[in-house]
Amino acid sequence: MTPLRGIVLAGGKGTRLGELTRVTNKHLLPVGPYPMVYFPLKKLAGVGLGDILLVSGTEHMGDFVELLGSGKDHGCQITYKVQDEAGGIAQALGLARLFSHGARSLVILGDNIFEDSLHDLVAEAEKQPNDAFVLLKEVPDPQRYGVAEIQEGRIVGIEEKPKVPKSKMAVAGIYLYPADVYEVIRTLKPSHRGELEITDVNKFYLSQGRLRSRPLKGYWTDAGTPESLGHANDLVRNSMPRFV
Ligand code: DAU
Repeated sequence: MTPLRGIVLAGGKGTRLGELTRVTNKHLLPVGPYPMVYFPLKKLAGVGLGDILLVSGTEHMGDFVELLGSGKDHGCQITYKVQDEAGGIAQALGLARLFSHGARSLVILGDNIFEDSLHDLVAEAEKQPNDAFVLLKEVPDPQRYGVAEIQEGRIVGIEEKPKVPKSKMAVAGIYLYPADVYEVIRTLKPSHRGELEITDVNKFYLSQGRLRSRPLKGYWTDAGTPESLGHANDLVRNSMPRFV
């Protein structure tokens, strides 16, 4: 079976959080009792991924190293990789190519907070090592996210932040990719906002008939705006996600 590596993307500018990210990185802000980055990290370590890569910018990489160290307190070994400019989620993921070294990649965006365990995803993906997986969650405000168009239970299209969404199913920031994802990223062109888009990666797999989706159970939110950060705190205080 192709091995699986864990990747946490914790770069970007966090501008939507305004003053909160003036002197720190979004993923170091508190969510319940922990810094935000603990959540994706614990999710990956919780499904037994021993090798995890954390990608972030130059500005606060030292803080991540100080906070997380080698990873031994979290039961994993952390490698750090610098993203010089915030060139998009797919660009950040592309930096994991050498780390992944022919393995499949389980990727979590550092501002995604969710309840569900990743065990079932990992188990299903083991049977389909050449396919990509996305997790879907029904939301009231799909225009903020990548949105899946669904027909007869299957994804037939994905749009990034559509003004008129074709469904309420958001594509969560949790992705499991086959080993060739790094070749796919190399072919991407920047979008109108100058970023390499993860939605374009997912669209590539869709066009090849290699994209699968699963529903995400329990709560899910991003924490990239003041409102959603507050919401994430409320959710976690009410019910701590399961990590194992
Ligand atoms: O949260 C799920 C959504 O995340 C998806 O539905 C969208 O399809 C996807 O594009 C993304 O949308 P956002 O606009 O919320 O992404 P954002 O720019 O906030 O980046 C999310 C995380 O990705 C951020 O917490 C850190 C990481 N990131 C982002 C950028 C732009 C990087 O590591 N480097 C980057 O250059």
